[in-house]
Parts: sequence; C-alpha cells; structure tokens
Amino acid sequence: MRHIADLPVSGQVVFLRSDLNVPLDGAVITDDGRIRASLPTIRELTGRGARVLVCAHLGRPKGEDYPQRAAGGPSLRPVADRLGELLGQPVALALDVAGPSAAQLAASLADGQVGMLENVRFEPAETSKDDVQRAEFAARLAAMASSYVGDGFGALHREHASVYDVPRLLPHAVGELVRAEVTVLRRLTHDPERPYVVVLGGAKPSDKLGVVANLLATADRLLIGGGMSYTFLAAQGFQVGRSLLEADQIGQVREVLARARERGVEIVLPVDLVGATGFSADAEHEVYPVGSFPADRESLDMGPATRELFASKLADAKTVFWNGPLGVFEFPAFAAGTLAVAKAISRVHGLTVVGGGDSAAAIRKLNFPDDAFSHISTGGGASLEYVEGKKLPGLEALADYA
Ligand code: 3PG
Ligand code: MG
Repeated sequence: MRHIADLPVSGQVVFLRSDLNVPLDGAVITDDGRIRASLPTIRELTGRGARVLVCAHLGRPKGEDYPQRAAGGPSLRPVADRLGELLGQPVALALDVAGPSAAQLAASLADGQVGMLENVRFEPAETSKDDVQRAEFAARLAAMASSYVGDGFGALHREHASVYDVPRLLPHAVGELVRAEVTVLRRLTHDPERPYVVVLGGAKPSDKLGVVANLLATADRLLIGGGMSYTFLAAQGFQVGRSLLEADQIGQVREVLARARERGVEIVLPVDLVGATGFSADAEHEVYPVGSFPADRESLDMGPATRELFASKLADAKTVFWNGPLGVFEFPAFAAGTLAVAKAISRVHGLTVVGGGDSAAAIRKLNFPDDAFSHISTGGGASLEYVEGKKLPGLEALADYA
C-alpha cells in the first residue's frame, strides 16, 4: 500500500474519502471522535499545499432519488462546521455531491484549503449494487480531483463508489488513520499472543454469527454477552422470557456451538441476568440465574456472577478484541456489565483493541480514558470484518498503485 507521504499533492486537488459518520441528536454532534481521527491526514495534506476535497457519508439517507434524499437529510453541514473549528480554518460545504456546486468548490480551492462535498449517500449510485451505475458516478467524482487518499477506515468494508471505485480511477494512497488502524489490527490476525480472548456484544446474532464462526479459527475463548447472548442461551435450552430473541437463528447457533466444542474453543455465556419489567431507564429489575429467568421479564444487562466470570476469563489474556456493548449501557441502571468488562479489559497486560462505534461511545460515556486500551478502532463493521480475516473492498482498492 502506498502512503500519502509518497503521493505528490502540492497544488493539486486531492479527493479525500474520510469516515465522518458521527452520531447526531438532531443537528448536534454527540461524539466527534471520527472527525478528530480524520485530522492528522487532513493536516498533513494541507501542510504540503494540497487542495483537500473531503468526501464522506452521514447516516443512511432514504428516498428513491437525489432530490428526495437531499430533502430528507442528514446534511454534512454540522460536520463541516465542526471540522472547520477543529482545523482552525473554514471548511466550505458544497450544495451537492458531484454537481455544479461541487465542481465549482473543487475549482475554487486554494493550496492548503479544505472543502467538503455534501453527504455522498444523497447519490443513490454511491451504494448501488450495479457496477455500471457505480462506475459512472465514480467517474464524475474522480473528474474533480488529481489524486485519491483513502482514510475512511470505518467504511472500508463497503463496496461503495467513493470507497471502492474512485481509487481505481486516480493515483491513490492510504491516509494516516487507515495506516494506524491496519497496523494494530494486523497484529490480531497475524500470530496474536495467547490466550486470545474475543468479547462480543451487541444486539443481533444474525449480524454476528458469521463472525463467531470465523473467529473459531483464531481465538482461544469467546465471551458472548448483551443482546445476542439471549439467543445463545435459548439455543442451550434456557428460558429468556421477553429478552431480545432471534428464534430463527437458534438452529445455526447450535451448529456454531457444536463446532466450537470440536475445535476446543471455549464459549462463555452469561450465568445470571438482570431482568427488567420493560425497556426503560427506570424499569424495576432484579437479578436471576439463567436457569430461572421469569417469563414476563426482559434482560437488559448481565448479572454480578457473570461480571465476575467474564473478568476471570479475561484475567490471563494476552490479546483482547472487544466489539459491542454487553447491556443497555445508555441506561445507568443497566451499565454495570459493560463497565465491568471494560474495566477487566483495561487491566489486561497485552494488546487490547476496542472496535466499533457503540463500544467506543460506551467507554467514553463511562469515562474511561482513551489510553486505558491499546487501540480504539473508529470502525465497527470494518474492524470486525478485518479481524475475521475477510478482505475489505476499500483496502483491496488501495492495495495497488494506479
Ligand atoms: C459506520 O458507521 O459503521 C460506518 O460509517 C459505515 O456506515 P454504514 O454501516 O451505514 O455503512
Ligand atoms: Mg456502524
């Protein structure tokens, strides 16, 4: 992979794909971590006299065509404003993605200036499965720049026009963030120090069953908590009451559990749960062993025995990868499981990697300093797919030099 240091950029328009997909409350950014993570590359480029044209997506705009999506939003306006504040220089936002306003912006940038295109997902072709549609859109994007820098780590697992097709059309290189992320994540896939423990949380087993199956080849131990663990418990015959359950996944979960036994990979599940009367911050709740969970309760967190069990299974770890919250940490009454596991991981002597927007937001909300872990990845799906050993389309596109 070619690094930006090897790309001539002075006086040229550089198309920079970043991942600025930040959580929003209305138009207010609630966590600007991804914008901060994009700064080193932008500063390096502007410092070398590049004219930086930033391309990014925000959310998943709905609508059949450009006008519908642009009308529904979200606009990158608050993101461009925040980036400008952090950089200490204005960041002009185009009114469109690859139309007259974008072209005019690209042509008007002076050396060292930064401009931003509107939310690239306003263009339906960005995420199209049709190669021809994507290629046609990619050509319009590429026409505005002389080179391409890929730095949107969190979107590298998407085969989207701005991630996968544009780099094929321009001289390209990887940015600082992608380089830093890949340097750490490679250590998880190349001969990790053992025991290698993976902690998986988050809502749906259907999203992560493939991950579990793939990790059986590399991890020594898998700790499964949070929303997805209830389907695993159900697959072992436990009653989980009104907890989140994907009943149609039970058969596959059983197969994965059987394969884990064959391979000698330990799968650790909750032994007690916090059962609440409903999904709310102030719901009444009590701790139940998994063997006697009431039919009318829903689990929102792991219980104290599970917190201890998970901590003990992390104590001897030399490598840890954690993805996904282990309870409804947004409600203080149900944050204990996520907090206990984050603490146990922060005490590990070895490489500890937290992957995923939700897990990263959880540790920031629970006031862990960033240096409590070796690395906090800016990518959820992207880090997970990388750690699984999958090829990321965006990284493949940057692998060769065009
Ligand atoms: C993310 O937030 O995980 C990345 O920005 C990718 O977004 P997506 O899941 O909407 O493709
Ligand atoms: Mg995501």
